Amino acid sequence: MADEPLVLGIETSCDETGIGIVRGHTLLANTIASSVEEHARFGGVVPEVASRAHLEAMTPAVERALGEAGLAFTDIDAIAVTAGPGLAGALLVGVAAAKAYALGLGVPLYGVNHLAAHVAVDQLEHGPLPRPCVAMLVSGGHSSLLLVPDVARDVISLGSTVDDAAGEAFDKVARVLGLPFPGGPYIDRAARDGSGTAIAFPRGKYDDGTLDFSFSGLKTAVARWVEAREASGQAVHVPDVAASFQEAVVDVLTRKAIAACRRYDVHDLLIGGGVAANSRLRALAQERCDAAGVRLRVPRPGLCTDNGAMVATLGSDLVRAGVAPSTLGIPADSSMPITTVHV
Ligand code: KG4
Ligand code: ZN
Repeated sequence: MADEPLVLGIETSCDETGIGIVRGHTLLANTIASSVEEHARFGGVVPEVASRAHLEAMTPAVERALGEAGLAFTDIDAIAVTAGPGLAGALLVGVAAAKAYALGLGVPLYGVNHLAAHVAVDQLEHGPLPRPCVAMLVSGGHSSLLLVPDVARDVISLGSTVDDAAGEAFDKVARVLGLPFPGGPYIDRAARDGSGTAIAFPRGKYDDGTLDFSFSGLKTAVARWVEAREASGQAVHVPDVAASFQEAVVDVLTRKAIAACRRYDVHDLLIGGGVAANSRLRALAQERCDAAGVRLRVPRPGLCTDNGAMVATLGSDLVRAGVAPSTLGIPADSSMPITTVHV
């Protein structure tokens, strides 16, 4: 199996039960069962509800993935699973299932880092990662800039958010604007009918010389602006607020991503995580990368949001790199640092 291992990946760090199957870097199946609708009325993911949903979805999702790939359990060479970071209870379901499958099938287990998996997945679409590359991960839980000499062995943190994650800011601002959860895609859509320059929202840490982010001040500024308009009886034009907020986020993200490439003399930028599905982020990143002579890689939106294929891809890289498998005693680590690619 050494060259093109057939790996089944399990992702349960948040509200998606993702099962992916890859052979090397070829995607064979990617099934997702989401509990997002059960969380919508709470305006955020309820950990206990997510964990229970994973437990119910796990076995059917694995069977569906095998069916999609036209494979049997006995074809699987290795099991990979997100061991962290994420919601503790949600991670436990995936890790326990992965151990059971690995033990039952007599195949190696790889407990992997969710964030590194968001980076690795791009190889399914755009081939092997340049070494090194800079990766910007923007999701509901994380906003990080990484230097990636080798996704299977060596990931270095360059900076991250000091408060809210980018996706979290999208979700909170959407709530202020009366848009559904999760807010990112709704803001993206609303913004298409608005102007990104209508309102000058603050851009936290824009010129501070670090590669860190801050989105909590922006989120508060949007909420205050909306409150003030409503208090004075003026209409709130949702598309303009959405577009101006979105512009502030993607302006800072792309500026810092290019700064990271310059600082480390790297010419390849990868953007991953749920917020990488944002159409304005993709467009502005392309524009600024072209101007800076940086090649941009962004996976298609379906591979940006949480899924099992990303975990399987990183698992496949670990097998191919000859990295020793995890033991069946590995824990789920809700705050696993990005420097730990695999446990
Ligand atoms: O990576 P992901 O699926 O899960 C986490 O690991 O958090 O990211 C989910 C986040 C949510 O905050 C969601 O609002 C955001 O990604 N998101 C978007 C878009 N699609 C998803 N944010 C902005 N624009 C989008 N089109
Ligand atoms: Zn994620």
